[in-house]
Amino acid sequence: MGDNAKLDLGGKPSEYPVVSGTIGPDVIDIRKLYAATGAFTFDPGFTSTAACESAITYIDGDEGVLLHRGYPIDQLAEQSSFMEVSYLLLNGELPSKAELDKFSNTITRHTMVHEQLAQFFRGFRRDAHPMAIMCGVVGALSAFYHDSTDINDPQQRLIASHRLIAKIPTIAAMAYQYSVGRPFVFPKNDLSYTGNFLRMTFANPAEEYEVDPIVEDAMDKIFILHADHEQNASTSTVRLAGSSGANPFACIAAGIACLWGPAHGGANEAALNMLREIGTPDRIPEFIARAKNKDDPFRLMGFGHRVYKNFDPRAKVLSKAATDVLNKLGKNDPVLDTARELEQIALKDPYFVDKKLYPNVDFYSGVILSAIGFPTNMFTVLFALARTVGWVAQWNEMISDPQQKIGRPRQLYTGATKRDYVPVDKR
Ligand code: SDX
Repeated sequence: MGDNAKLDLGGKPSEYPVVSGTIGPDVIDIRKLYAATGAFTFDPGFTSTAACESAITYIDGDEGVLLHRGYPIDQLAEQSSFMEVSYLLLNGELPSKAELDKFSNTITRHTMVHEQLAQFFRGFRRDAHPMAIMCGVVGALSAFYHDSTDINDPQQRLIASHRLIAKIPTIAAMAYQYSVGRPFVFPKNDLSYTGNFLRMTFANPAEEYEVDPIVEDAMDKIFILHADHEQNASTSTVRLAGSSGANPFACIAAGIACLWGPAHGGANEAALNMLREIGTPDRIPEFIARAKNKDDPFRLMGFGHRVYKNFDPRAKVLSKAATDVLNKLGKNDPVLDTARELEQIALKDPYFVDKKLYPNVDFYSGVILSAIGFPTNMFTVLFALARTVGWVAQWNEMISDPQQKIGRPRQLYTGATKRDYVPVDKR
C-alpha cells in the first residue's frame, strides 16, 4: 500500500508509512508518532497493535487459517511429525530426510539433564502443581548451562535452542513422575522424541515400557497443534524478556509462567474440569446461562479467541482426533459427548454467535490427554512442552532482527499530580 496514514492531532498534521506484509493486515508504522505529536497510542490488550515483524506463523482469524512457514496446520497435523514441524519453525523450510535425521539426532543427544538438576525437585511438595515445577526448573537451567547463555553468539544460541527443545520433555516427565512418587526415568536414544517422552513419563523401573503407537501418534499430533501461534501472550512474554538480553532459559521460563494463566494455556485444564463439573448434557443450559451472565465471572473454558472469529483450525483437528483416539484405545468418556453437545448448543446461541465465540485449541485437547492417562494438572505442562519450540523460534527471530530494541511500552497516567511530602505528625 503506497499512501501514508494521515493524522491530525490538535490541528497539527502528521503522516505515517503504511507497510504491507506478504499476507494479512497492513501496519501503520507509528514509531515516530510520539516525537511528531507528543501523544502515545493506547492499546492495553494489543487488540490493534503489531508488536513485531515475523515470518514464522500466520493466522487468519476470520477464515480460521493457521500457517506455519506457509504450510496449513491441518496438513502438518495429518502428514508431518513434531520433529519435522520443529525443524520447519526454526529454519523456515521443510527438511530433507538427511536434514531431519541430523536434527532429530542432535535433539536426542541433548535430552538428558544435568544430574544435579534432579535435586531441585526434592524441594517441591509432591502435590505441587507441575506448572510451578516447570517454571522453577526451566528457569534453573541457566544455572547449569552457562556455556550457552551468550545471546550474541549464534553458536551458543543454537546449542541453547537445542537444549531447551530436547530437555523440556525430560523435565515435564520428571515433574509427573515426582508427583506420583516414582523414580525418574532416563531418556532412551532409540525412541522418537514423543515416544521417549511417553516412556519417561509413564514407565516404572520394575518393568519394560512399550510405547503404544496409537498414543505416540496422538501425542505427536497434539504437540504439532500446540507448537506455535504467532504473537500470543506467552510468546510476547518470551520476546519482551528476550529484548532485554536475558538468557534463553530465563525467557522460556517467563513464557511458561504466562502460559499457565487460565485465559491462555491453563484453559485446557480448566476446560476439562468445567466439562466434568457439567457432567451430563442436561446441565449445559445452566452453564451457558452463567457464561452469558455479565455479573458472573464464569466463562466457557475452551471457547473464544482474540484472533479466531471463526473455528480454531486446531480445534477442528482435535475434535476429530478425540473420536479417533478414544475409539482406537477402546475408551468411552462421557465428557466427549458433553463437549459435543455443549458445542452444538453454544454455536446456535445468539450470545456466542454474535460475539463469534467458537471452540479453541483447549476445548477438545483435554479429552484426548485424559484418555492417554494424564491428570488435568499436566495438561498445561504438555502445552508448554510443545510451545517451547515456537517460543525458541520466535526468540531466535527477535534476537537476529537488526531492528530489535528493548521493549519498553509507555502508559496513560491517571494517578496523582505532583504534591509535596507531608511528615507523619502533620497528616
Ligand atoms: C489460548 O492468543 C493465542 O493465540 C492463544 C492460544 C495459543 O495457541 O497461544 O490460541 C491459546 O490461549 C486459547 C484461548 C484459551 N482460553 C480460554 O478458552 C478461556 C476462555 N476464553 C476467554 O477468556 C477469551 O475468549 C479469550 C481470553 C480467549 C479471548 O479474550 P478477548 O479476545 O480479550 O475477548 P474478550 O475477553 O474481550 O471477550 C469479548 C466478549 C466479552 O463480552 P463483552 O464484554 O464484549 O460483552 O466475549 C465474551 C466476553 O465476556 N467472551 C466470553 C468468552 N470469551 C469471550 N463469554 C463467555 N465465555 C467465553 N469463553
